[in-house]
Amino acid sequence: MAKSVYDDTYAQSMRDPEGFWAAAAADVHWDRRWDRVLDDSRKPFYRWFTGGELNTCYNALDLHVDRGRGKQRALVYDSPVTGTVRAYTYRELRDAVALCAGMLRRQGVEKGDRVLIYMPMVPEAVIAMLACARLGAIHSVVFGGFAAGELAKRIDDARPRLILSASCGIEVNRVIPYKPLLDGAIELAQHKVPRCVILQRPQQTAPLVRGRDQDWSETLAGAQPVECVPVAATDPLYILYTSGTTGIPKGVVHDNGGHAVALKWSMSAVYGMGSGEVFWAASDIGWVVGHSYIVYAPLLKGCTTILYEGKPVGTPDPGAFWRLIAEHGVNALFTAPTAFRAIKKEDPNGTHMAKHDLSRFRTLFLAGERCDPDTLHWAEDKLRVPVIDHWWQTETAWPIAANCVGLGMLPVKAGSPTKAVPGYDVHVLAEDNSEMAAGQIGSIALRLPLAPGCLPTLWNNDAGYEKSYLTKHPGHYLTGDAGYRDEDGYVYIMSRVDDIINVAGHRLSTGGMEEVLAAHPDVAECAVVGVADEIKGEVPVGFVVTKAGVARSEADIVRELVERVREQIGPVAAFKTALVVQRLPKTRSGKILRGTIKKIADGHEWVVPATIDDPVVLDEITAALGAKGYPKR
Ligand code: COA
Ligand code: AMP
Repeated sequence: MAKSVYDDTYAQSMRDPEGFWAAAAADVHWDRRWDRVLDDSRKPFYRWFTGGELNTCYNALDLHVDRGRGKQRALVYDSPVTGTVRAYTYRELRDAVALCAGMLRRQGVEKGDRVLIYMPMVPEAVIAMLACARLGAIHSVVFGGFAAGELAKRIDDARPRLILSASCGIEVNRVIPYKPLLDGAIELAQHKVPRCVILQRPQQTAPLVRGRDQDWSETLAGAQPVECVPVAATDPLYILYTSGTTGIPKGVVHDNGGHAVALKWSMSAVYGMGSGEVFWAASDIGWVVGHSYIVYAPLLKGCTTILYEGKPVGTPDPGAFWRLIAEHGVNALFTAPTAFRAIKKEDPNGTHMAKHDLSRFRTLFLAGERCDPDTLHWAEDKLRVPVIDHWWQTETAWPIAANCVGLGMLPVKAGSPTKAVPGYDVHVLAEDNSEMAAGQIGSIALRLPLAPGCLPTLWNNDAGYEKSYLTKHPGHYLTGDAGYRDEDGYVYIMSRVDDIINVAGHRLSTGGMEEVLAAHPDVAECAVVGVADEIKGEVPVGFVVTKAGVARSEADIVRELVERVREQIGPVAAFKTALVVQRLPKTRSGKILRGTIKKIADGHEWVVPATIDDPVVLDEITAALGAKGYPKR
């Protein structure tokens, strides 16, 4: 293949990372210039732009107002579930954020304090995130689909001074009360939060707890706007909890300086977006995609961003995405392949697309889970625009591998998110840390230092950061993904090396679900496996062995297990199926053979592992799955 702008840019980022990122940093407004671009004085904890000071909110809002973009749309809220479309110009959004920051300050929030945000997809949630950034406070957004127990774990780890929440969310046509979940979480948590500010939505208001809860509108009414507080480049901007290998979520930290530089750079280099253009990430602010590409990156770049409170189907039909693209002049859409699988299922011929003017739509970006070639080709055929699969994680905050549209597109190979993005030194390693040959599957690792914007550590847990990510392959960050590179350097992400599964693009720990099942009084042991699903990519399926003497019906036990996961982890886990089995297949050393169970359930070829204790158990599992209709294809 001929050398491209991408090749040159990538080579430069590897040859001289400090020069490369210093040049990118010139595009950001600094209150104080950095002393060092890359500070490696405390390896393996690398920091970018030490000594520098800036404010992320200033760069995302005020800067554009100061430079004449005040009248441009910054944020468009489109909510088919409430029948609302509301646009904020950069000036309006800046003013709303400054006022919200004043409200937070009146509640005692200052630089370095944590503010937990448990809110649906409403503009106030985005305003609250930016208001925290304005004050130098650290936000921690928790996805609305998590239950009280998960919320409580995050409260205890982040120890917020304040919680911002809303009375309810809306899922298609159901009102989901948020307040009982919040009250339950506060009850469960050890850390006692002194104050909550609650946005009362007209669809369902919530009773307020005297002395603790305040009404959002009333509190805001008494606030004065505040200016941006400069913070150190290395100060945390936010903590976002993500699934690890146990039920304890990891508090991934992203800082201010490296994050602003990398995200702004990514908008043009990776996504090919210019200031003034319209970018839509159809995700949720509770996920990293929402943090990076609904809120921070598009605003840092001076784009218009779309906040969509709806689904790809059902709100009201599979034409919802095309309506938004046409109505708001969207130039690029970013979503998860699962959304396209859902649309394709309801509208296989793409008839809804023909009803809308998609002439301004240029590129579709997909991430969050492996993009199956069928979905990629369907989207290409129907939309007639480039469809870009790209790969990244909560920990990196921006893409590790992508077809960088702004650096000249490379040929698309279905099944591959293309090549390493400039700044990322991607390696495919064997158990002994040697480099795998092209085509050979290994553990994908990133040579340190990580690019700016990636996590510098876990919240209050340097040791956990080292243990989880830096010990397996010395000098490298463990992505937790397995895959390979082909002869052309294209990366292929095949599976996780741990027990994380991807359900509708949502990252979940099967270990966490196993903890819930194991706590059921009738359960002796259990395994949870991610089984292939036509729409969601994967869904969790539980396998439980009951204690001796348990005579209750399988249906009763399964119903209780499903309820427990929903109550303790949340509906987002999509845990709906469990099987009571006689035994679980294990190795002679007692390790449950989850991989083999998955292959049987998915209908893939499997062999009896050499280390198995009793091969007959696999026949029992095959029969139990067969009785429930697995494999499904
Ligand atoms: N608050 C409360 N509950 C929520 C929620 C929220 N913010 N988000 C989801 N849930 C609930 C859903 O209502 C559903 O509950 P149910 O079991 O009672 O039906 C459950 O959590 C699972 O939600 P979800 O995985 O979204 O499934 P779905 O069937 O409602 O929708 C898709 C499936 C594919 C349409 C949807 O997941 C989707 O649009 N995904 C792609 C976009 C995306 O968010 N990607 C994330 C990373 S880019
Ligand atoms: P999250 O941290 O929730 O963004 O999930 C990150 C994980 O999702 C990655 O480690 C991968 O396992 C998976 N993932 C994200 N994008 C892709 C992609 N394009 N292809 C394959 N897997 C992906």
